[in-house]
Amino acid sequence: MAASGSGHENWSSRSAFILAAVGSAVGLGNMWRFPAEAGENGGGAFVLFYIFCVLLIGLPVLLSEVLIGRHGQANAPESVRRVARDSNAPEGWSILASMGVFAAFLILSFYCVVGGWVVYYIGVFLSDLFQSGVAGGAFEGRDTAEIKALMPGLFGDGTLMIGLNLGFLAITMFFVSRGVSSGIEWVAVYLMPLFFVLFLGITIYGAFSGNFGEAVAYLFTFDFSKLTGDVMLAAVGQAFFSLSLGVAGMMTYGAYANRNTNLGETSGIIASADTAVALLAGLCIFPIVFAAGLATNSGPGLMFESLPLAFQAMPFGSLIGLAFFTMVFFAALTSSVSLLEAPTAWMFEKFKMKRAVATLIVGAGAAVLGILSSLSFNDLADFYPLSFIPLFAETNFFDTLDGLTAKLFMPIGAILTCIFVGWVADARLIDDENGLDGVLHQTWRALVRFVCPIVLTVILLFGLFG
Ligand code: PHE
Repeated sequence: MAASGSGHENWSSRSAFILAAVGSAVGLGNMWRFPAEAGENGGGAFVLFYIFCVLLIGLPVLLSEVLIGRHGQANAPESVRRVARDSNAPEGWSILASMGVFAAFLILSFYCVVGGWVVYYIGVFLSDLFQSGVAGGAFEGRDTAEIKALMPGLFGDGTLMIGLNLGFLAITMFFVSRGVSSGIEWVAVYLMPLFFVLFLGITIYGAFSGNFGEAVAYLFTFDFSKLTGDVMLAAVGQAFFSLSLGVAGMMTYGAYANRNTNLGETSGIIASADTAVALLAGLCIFPIVFAAGLATNSGPGLMFESLPLAFQAMPFGSLIGLAFFTMVFFAALTSSVSLLEAPTAWMFEKFKMKRAVATLIVGAGAAVLGILSSLSFNDLADFYPLSFIPLFAETNFFDTLDGLTAKLFMPIGAILTCIFVGWVADARLIDDENGLDGVLHQTWRALVRFVCPIVLTVILLFGLFG
């Protein structure tokens, strides 16, 4: 196994692969983006359509992606090229993964901005604990207005936002530059189990102390009239975002998997863990949103506004708040690492450069875009870069990158992946890799060949022009 440089590395075990892939999937997408999207798209209809998308589209695409990576054993575009070559198909199909690599880079840039917010809240809770000790954290004593002012205070301070953003990016770069086994795998193996323990603890606490009823009704009442083209596109986009699909991330991780890992089973584990965390995060956050009278559609700030209010009302609020945001930080880091790894692996393999140099170049690019995203909440709030496209008419830089990747790059990448795996690649090669038999295999094949590309195309057109 090569330590770093351009040699190809592997995960040290099957469970390391699962933890890293679950680590990539579970992140800010579940804790921050899922509740915010559910709230902006009316709750129940969005949530149920989201679950439908995970099962019928996300899961089959996830298996297709890790399968391409495992067969190719290289960075994402090169893996697609190898599958194409072994199937006597045009190597130009690698464009689907090149687009993905670019999209991963774009997502990385704004993902680290939100990662910075997490760091900020860790700082708030920490300083609180230092000031007043474990039992009587000042958080519990602060008045509501003061806590509500935290988020706008942060958003209004461009310099602070940029500092936090770059800090989070630098931590991500540190781990990616160390390589697969001593960097990426290390974060996943140590931080993901810790994440699950903390997350379960806090959810159970929330279930006993919060108002569950209203949240459950909001999240699971299906109102068919609310399922518009926009909402459907938002739900598919969220499913892809949350499962890390359509952006070459899972192909890149699949490439480090060895031959005896059952990819069908592994994909099932990743999708179940990811969906469970998203739903639980919704059930954690919405009771607080309702109790505090916050607007469900308050956008990207939802998680950051609502939870501190709950911690304020709890005994040991500072300590629990610190634990919660630390856990979100771990989850975010294991995802940002995968976002940086996809373009980095491509760059150092393609240009035969050192891993560390490639990490620096990609990171520097993400820093520039990240600064523009950080300023979207303050100095550049009125800058709408793609205002000529109706979907992005009044959308700032941050939201434009977010919408562009989740609503265009990811679905288009997934459609091409399905056509490639379902119709272009050699069926024997695919059967050999997927680890499924009998009915499961046939179902997966039918989903990839027919259901996913057709449903995705319809939703895409509906969402864009409907
Ligand atoms: N799935 C990650 C999350 O939910 C984000 C991500 C998207 C990671 C795409 C890698 C690729 O936070």
